[in-house]
Amino acid sequence: MVRAWYMDDEVAFPRKEHHRIPPQFVTLEELHKSSGVEYFQVSPDCYEIDNTLKQLIEERGNNIQQIVDNPNEEELKKHFTEHFHADDEFRLAIEGCGYFDVRDKFDEWIRIEVLPGDLLVIPGGCYHRFIVDSQNVYKGLRILKDAIYQAHNRSSDELECRKEYLRKLFNGAYDEPKEEINLI
Ligand code: LAC
Ligand code: NI
Repeated sequence: MVRAWYMDDEVAFPRKEHHRIPPQFVTLEELHKSSGVEYFQVSPDCYEIDNTLKQLIEERGNNIQQIVDNPNEEELKKHFTEHFHADDEFRLAIEGCGYFDVRDKFDEWIRIEVLPGDLLVIPGGCYHRFIVDSQNVYKGLRILKDAIYQAHNRSSDELECRKEYLRKLFNGAYDEPKEEINLI
């Protein structure tokens, strides 16, 4: 089961399982409600033919696939810089372990531990960052709408996609449990 918890802001380049003391875990439902982030379980070994992933790609129109394989220091720095994208970003972990940090609606960090088969959909406009765990082994798949990868670093609050995301978040658009994917 994927785990998520609140973490403090000031940890500089945290590679480990940093959490508050005492730990404050977050359920997937709370995660969705407070950030719009969705979680899906996909087969890591045969994701190419996984029905959940296939259906999501069809429904949402994200179909540009980019493999992220053992990012080097420079790439890691980029991934760990707080940013958002204009469109939803899918991120599937295939090998190793990493952490996605996403900001909740009150700008607090929620850390999500991702293991092979964990797929996150991070809404456009939602600030996030990523780091591998201390084993430094990670392979993932990024699935985007646009072939050109563009990250807007904090602070890009003036962008319309950010304003739209906040409107949705504060108008309760993510309050209902996420839609179930009907398997074919
Ligand atoms: C990305 C992750 C790090 O944009 O959010 O690739
Ligand atoms: Ni990103």
